[in-house]
Parts: sequence; C-alpha cells; structure tokens
Amino acid sequence: MNIAIIGAGYVGLVTGACFAGLGHHVWCVDIDEQKIQSLRRGGIPIYEPGLESLIAKGVAERRLMFTTDLEDPMLLADAVFIAVGTPASRRGDGYADLTYVYAVAENLAQYLNDYTVIVDKSTVPVGTAREVARIIEGANPQADFDMVSNPEFLREGAAIEDFMRPDRIVIGVESDRAFDVIKEVYDPLCIRNAPIVKTTLETAELSKYAANAFLAIKISFINEVANLCEVVGADVLSLAQAVGMDGRIGDKFLHPGPGYGGSCFPKDTLALLRTAQECGQDLRMVGAAAEVNNAQKARMIKKIKDAVGGSLEDKTVAILGLTFKPETDDVRESAALTIIPALIEKGTVVKAHDPKGIEEARRELPKEVQYVADSYSAAEDSDCVVLITEWNQYRALDMERIKKLMKVNPVFVDLRNVYRKQKMEELGFKYVGIGQV
Ligand code: UDX
Ligand code: UDX
Repeated sequence: MNIAIIGAGYVGLVTGACFAGLGHHVWCVDIDEQKIQSLRRGGIPIYEPGLESLIAKGVAERRLMFTTDLEDPMLLADAVFIAVGTPASRRGDGYADLTYVYAVAENLAQYLNDYTVIVDKSTVPVGTAREVARIIEGANPQADFDMVSNPEFLREGAAIEDFMRPDRIVIGVESDRAFDVIKEVYDPLCIRNAPIVKTTLETAELSKYAANAFLAIKISFINEVANLCEVVGADVLSLAQAVGMDGRIGDKFLHPGPGYGGSCFPKDTLALLRTAQECGQDLRMVGAAAEVNNAQKARMIKKIKDAVGGSLEDKTVAILGLTFKPETDDVRESAALTIIPALIEKGTVVKAHDPKGIEEARRELPKEVQYVADSYSAAEDSDCVVLITEWNQYRALDMERIKKLMKVNPVFVDLRNVYRKQKMEELGFKYVGIGQV
C-alpha cells in the first residue's frame, strides 16, 4: 500500500517507520523543514528504543520517504494518516487544540483526486473525524474519500513493540470500502493475530480517551491507597500484589509513584472532562483521577521536605530522573517539573541527572538547576537523593558509594519504590518510599 503520514512527531514517526517495516511505501510529511532535512540525513528527533534502526532500514529499502511537500504523497496514497499534535489548548481550559488537525484537512483536500481513505490517528475529541470530513468536503466538493478513526495506543519507550504487537486495532469506519483499505494496511499484523475492533467513528474516538482515563484512574487509585498505607502503617507493595492477583483487577498500572505525566494522560483526561461537560454529562471518576494526580505531585514536595527534617532551605538535593517515565527523552508533565521548581523556590540547591532528558528539561526548569553527568556526581555533597524516574541505571546503584559521596545522615527518597527500606536502613540511609512505613 501507499501511505502518507502527516506529522512526523512521536506518533507519526513511529507509525510511519512501522508501516514501512511491514512492507508498505510510506511518506512522512511535516511542515517543519529542519526536522525533515535532519530525518533525511538520518537524524532522529526523539529518543525511542528501536526507532533509529527501523527508520534507517525503511530508508535504505526505499520504503520510507520524508518530505515537506504534500502533493506527491497525496496523489499516490491509498490512505492518509493525520498524526499532527493535538496539545491542550493554550487557553488552559482543558480543550484539545485542533488547529493543526483542521489545517491539515483544509490543506490536503485540494490534492484529493482518486478515492482516498483519510485516517485520524491523533487523539481527538469525539466528533472530530466528522468535522474533518466537513472541512474536506467544503474545500473540495469533488473529493472522493472516506473518513476513518484509528486511534493509537502507543506507550512512549515501548512504542514499536506496542505497534507491532497491539492488544487491539480500533477502526472507526462507516464504509466497507474504507474498512477494506485499512484492513489491508494492517494485514501484516492481523496475520500475527492482532484483533481488530470495528466501530463507528464516535466510538473509536471515545475509546481512546476511555482507555487512557481508565489507566489514569487506576494509577490515581493506587496513589491514594498508598497515601492511606502511610498513615495506617500498611505496605502498598504487598497490598498491590495481593489486589493485583485478582484476575478481574490485574497487576498492571498498580505502581504508586509521584503522579502520572506524559503527553497523554494529563491532557486526555482533561479533554474528556470537557467533552462530558459540554454534553451536560458527569464523569466524576475522571475528574477525581486528575485532581488526585495534581495533589500527588504536590505531595511529593512535602515528602522531601519532611524527609530532610522539615526545611529545604540551603539543603542540597540530588534528583535522579527528569523524564515522565524511563526510555524516553520526553519531560512533558513529568513530576520533576513540579517538584524541582518548588525546591528551588524554597532555597534548595538542585543537582539533576537523567540519561536522556536533560536537554528537554533544561528548557522547562529554572536556570539554577545544576545538571550532572551521572548519578554519583549528583549524590556528591548532597543531603538527599530523590529518585523520580525508574530508569534501569538507577535500579542498581552502588549504595555504599552513594553514601560515601553524600553528606552525613544521608536521606534517600524513592518515589518509585525501587529499593527496599530495610536494606537501605542497614546501609545507613534514612529511606522514604511511597506507601511504606
Ligand atoms: C501525538 C498525537 O498527535 C496526539 O494526538 C497524541 O495525543 C499524542 O501523540 P505527537 O506525535 O506527540 O502527538 O506530537 P508532536 O511530537 O508534537 O508532533 C507533531 C508533528 O506534526 C510535528 O513534527 C509538527 O511539525 C507536525 N505538524 C504540525 C505538521 O506537520 N503540520 C501541521 O500543520 C502541524
Ligand atoms: C500512555 C498509554 O499507556 C498509551 O496506551 C497511550 O496511547 C498513550 O498514553 P505513555 O504516556 O507513553 O502511554 O506512558 P505510560 O507507560 O502509560 O505511563 C504514563 C505515566 O503513568 C507515567 O508517568 C508513568 O510513570 C505513570 N505510571 C504508570 C504510574 O505512575 N504507575 C503505573 O503503574 C503505571
């Protein structure tokens, strides 16, 4: 198949590289000239495991092309995937900003000649696919096309695996002809038994939000239970194990932490709430998950303050992990972005390390933050180490060495429960985890 992907961001690039890997001919189109030039030279704008080699392979086999020009890909494409960003609107009201999606619709309409399937891949509020169709019809009344909603369920850091071995492929569609085209696009995955869920446009759009909201609720739930554990003297680690073994509940996404971040959960829960509000429909669980999450991030600041004896002033704190999760360079909505500015404001010296996220974090954090090359340099002369993101390289730190580098009475605040309290105390640390006493 010939496929055009519009928007070479996280989702667009992964989707394009994977489709090329499955044997299709793919054009990745982006308005960002520099990004396209760089991709053509083999530069990868994001860190995502396996992406660089997959792109290199697609390019070498001439199945993956990069361009800023919509015209040629549009003339050839059987299916066009819209994968431009849909950030939270700048008004700060929780609505998704659909400017880019609509601009793309307006733009591509003029190039539609033969029958083409237009696919919404970006996460968009219910009703957007129909609006995109209206825009295209308005701009080019002769256009022969069908709309499909095909939401992505890709985790950053595991996006290629998620794409190649999906739990399901959701196809929101109204015509059999369009369904057949998209089914053929995904056929190499269906041969590997990836299940397809065929729905209406609205159901597909909403299913993405519902999935993300459910996962956000699950995380906020365990975070609240962890906080209760701290008060009543229970241990959330064993609790999550006991609860998660119930097959109806499942043990995934039951890890308490500093609150979820990333480009999806925070934004998508708010956008879903706005949709519900507009329809006069309550979604109290989703609202509560978002509220709990904000409180959880803020609560981490108090946790650190209490751990160092009640005052953060003139303390030196080493931060391990700036990204919202491991195996990505993405810091969007990361707990580190809430915690670090608060520490700085209270007069704390902050030394920070991250394997991939320093460059991105630098743009978002106060200039006082000192960035260091490794965990041990961060620990040097610090009163407290705070582990925010559970990168593998933070899972097996030489704690004897860390302790020697730190000031006397070293404190270790483990916001991901990576280490065992008893062992850390034996080593001479004051250890504070989440949901443990
Ligand atoms: C994606 C999805 O689009 C979003 O709905 C989902 O919720 C999260 O993931 P993402 O891939 O992270 O967004 O966006 P981003 O990395 O910002 O990339 C968007 C790309 O689209 C950029 O390269 C941008 O230059 C490009 N773009 C934007 C266009 O090519 N044309 C436009 O009109 C606007
Ligand atoms: C998520 C969804 O998983 C994916 O299906 C969707 O398409 C995009 O949004 P992503 O945001 O990349 O993916 O990461 P995810 O692994 O879901 O983690 C999101 C956040 O939740 C991270 O900050 C992570 O640390 C946090 N989290 C996750 C927890 O705090 N506890 C958990 O048990 C799981």
